[in-house]
Amino acid sequence: MAKVRFVPDDAVHECEDGMALIDMCEDLDVSLKFGCTEGTCGVCELTVVEGRENLSRPTEEERDYLYEEDIEGGMRLGCQMKIKKGEVSITWKGPRAK
Ligand code: FES
Repeated sequence: MAKVRFVPDDAVHECEDGMALIDMCEDLDVSLKFGCTEGTCGVCELTVVEGRENLSRPTEEERDYLYEEDIEGGMRLGCQMKIKKGEVSITWKGPRAK
């Protein structure tokens, strides 16, 4: 099982290894929002605070949408990433962000 800490919601949830974040969020009451779900609108933009090594590599869509230096700084598109294993901590801008 993998674990994701949703920092703005002060919540931790478990998921199966390899699960897509967007699928995980479907059943959760978290404030991370999704729009297009295809990596083109940026609504799901987030920052990985910890555990980047436990995520899938950035997709072509993320590389098209985000600047390389932002990716290096931990930014990702939530609709594109999978949690491979272990623990990951993410944060994002939003109404309840701290
Ligand atoms: S939901 Fe549009 S980029 Fe992720």
